[in-house]
Amino acid sequence: MNKARHIAIIMDGNGRWAELRGQKRVKGHEVGAKVVRTITEFCAADSDIERLTLYAFSTENWKRPRLEVEFLMKLLQKYLDNELETYLTNNIRFEPIGDIRAFSSSLQKTIFEVKEKTAHCDGLVQSLALNYGAHDEILRAINRVKKSQEDITEAMLSNALDCKHNVDLLIRTGGDHRLSNFLLWQAAYAELFFSDTLWPDFTTVELEKILKDFTKIERRFGGLK
Ligand code: IPE
Ligand code: IPE
Ligand code: MG
Repeated sequence: MNKARHIAIIMDGNGRWAELRGQKRVKGHEVGAKVVRTITEFCAADSDIERLTLYAFSTENWKRPRLEVEFLMKLLQKYLDNELETYLTNNIRFEPIGDIRAFSSSLQKTIFEVKEKTAHCDGLVQSLALNYGAHDEILRAINRVKKSQEDITEAMLSNALDCKHNVDLLIRTGGDHRLSNFLLWQAAYAELFFSDTLWPDFTTVELEKILKDFTKIERRFGGLK
């Protein structure tokens, strides 16, 4: 039976969730952040799940209106301030991925502090993808390894990526069927699940159903049964 050790989620649909209720898009982000906590705690309680990587802000999301971007930055700051306790209580290690140098120095400091303060936790690893884009991640990795005289191997490149772990199960909420520049290298053999549920409505019940369906998939990795 397959066990999903590394789950990655494209948490999409916050804006539409709010607009459907006649509210501002940012309200959807606020509710979405609460769902991040619920799903993270659920995964932390499941000993088969080792990693949860969540797409929180892409390298393309800077194109959004300034006020929405500013709101997302403040929300991230608030989330990390509040969640340190959740991380520690649930033995969760926080490992951000993405190029956080684009963020304000105070936000970078908080990200670094939460990472440091949870470094000893050996339960679930929760990675938030922050100013993350797979193209950017791969380019930064290539630039890191290119100084080597030898030919670059798969292992060398993989080790230079922000996220060094293959994804077993990749879920996208919000109804669209695309990867939007998320974990393109690591998801090479991921099982893809697309849900119409908007992220603020996503529940542990739906995740449990996906995990159950995942166990039944025959993963061949190019071989035969
Ligand atoms: C995903 O929800 C969250 C982020 C990209 C930060 P969206 O904000 O993309 O919501 P929709 O897709 O517009 O509904
Ligand atoms: C992907 O959602 C990024 C995050 C969930 C953070 P988007 O809403 O930005 O993706 P597109 O624009 O629909 O591809
Ligand atoms: Mg979206």
